[in-house]
Amino acid sequence: MKIEFPKDFWWGAATSGPQSEGRFNKKHANVFDHWYEIDPDAFYNNVGPDTASNFYNSFKEDIAMLKKIGLNSVRTSIQWSRLIDDLEEGTLNEDGVRFYNDLIDEFLKNGIRPVINLHHFDIPAELYHKYGGWESKYVVDLFAKFAEQCFKLFGDRVEDWFTHNEPMVVVDGQYLYQFHYPLVRDGKKAVQVAYNLVLASAKAIEKFRKVNTNPKGRIGIILNLTPSYPATLEAKDVEAARFADLWCNQMFLDPSIHGVFPKELTDVLDKDGVLWESTIEEEKIILDNTIDVLGVNFYHPNRVQQPTVSPNSLTVDWMPNKYYDSYEKRNRRMNVDKGWEIYPKALYDIAINVRDNYNNIPWFVSENGMGVSREERWLNKDGMIEDDYRIQFIQEHLYWVSEGIKAGSNCFGYHLWTPIDSWSWMNAYRNRYGFISNNIHTQVKTIKKSGYWIKEVADANAYDM
Ligand code: BG6
Repeated sequence: MKIEFPKDFWWGAATSGPQSEGRFNKKHANVFDHWYEIDPDAFYNNVGPDTASNFYNSFKEDIAMLKKIGLNSVRTSIQWSRLIDDLEEGTLNEDGVRFYNDLIDEFLKNGIRPVINLHHFDIPAELYHKYGGWESKYVVDLFAKFAEQCFKLFGDRVEDWFTHNEPMVVVDGQYLYQFHYPLVRDGKKAVQVAYNLVLASAKAIEKFRKVNTNPKGRIGIILNLTPSYPATLEAKDVEAARFADLWCNQMFLDPSIHGVFPKELTDVLDKDGVLWESTIEEEKIILDNTIDVLGVNFYHPNRVQQPTVSPNSLTVDWMPNKYYDSYEKRNRRMNVDKGWEIYPKALYDIAINVRDNYNNIPWFVSENGMGVSREERWLNKDGMIEDDYRIQFIQEHLYWVSEGIKAGSNCFGYHLWTPIDSWSWMNAYRNRYGFISNNIHTQVKTIKKSGYWIKEVADANAYDM
């Protein structure tokens, strides 16, 4: 069966500044740099963000490889902690400006569209320590100022901008489930941070609309969407799945696209006494500054059942899992160690949801991928990783993307996480995701079988399944 894609479809991959560049020449530490300084044991094999994939030094050779595997678009992010010297005054770091200029030019020289994101979990540590990071509306304004600097510096060449990557992970990781520094567990703060992230995105978009002079320029947000499927058709499970959808998906989708939060969600937060502090002026900024384009990161769905935690046993005053519980559906394949459920049809469900409930906004799969540990197991005698499992994974997901497009959903691209095996937060290099492998000791990079495969797909704008 031949699966075909619309003309000009984006074939690409995504990374982020903090996960690829390495810390070289940065004046500021972001929260992950800082966390690694104070607690290296929190990171797999004690490998931190210092060198990452050495992209700061090797971007020219790396981009040449990305061209070789046929990618026509690549996302990365500009690190606030690299671009700005005085975080409050907004003075620029010359080396940061030079680096991102050179990087963008190199992408363009190689015929690769640079897709630029501005926040990928990497708030400068100083802003956390002085002001509480995303808890603070002053920091929200500083972010909008940083965004404005980026639009002015690079907007002549960058057409596709994104404000945040997966803001929900900041809420969950930093403020609820304690998997990202500062490891806070505070439901009320988490709710405020969610709101502040939405506001920061809208304020950055407001700046974009003021300063952008590129007629092709557009701006969006990247959200990790997790369709929430109830465990059974019992009313309590269905109700729980409804809340999970509101909390995990609609909390960011609705204000980003419709300019307002879902009332069903704010009513619950209000009733529970944890609703964020907002002003009418801020709500107007959110209403007036919705996105042009949406990025959807999809890895696994959300399987939901009624909460098993009794509200009285909660260790803090308020947690969203008062209303729902997520559970793992075990269908992982033998060769996938990350353990996430593989359910490609969810991408079709997302496509239809965007078509029917979100103005059929143009969107793309901004991340999808398979984290495999000890991938050297599939090294062949020529030194190439034969990752047929990844090819199969991508084919299955792309099939449902194409079905969504056939049904009228406005999807214009697919990006794998990630082009070159990159540093993955506390998991460091345990799970490999790329089209290209990276030996972290020698920094030797080698195209995997999937890299050669994607070149054929990109060239043909189609594949056989
Ligand atoms: C996404 C993030 O959530 O998943 C990436 O945007 C991340 O930054 C990717 O690396 C894979 O997850 P992990 O935890 O294996 O790195």
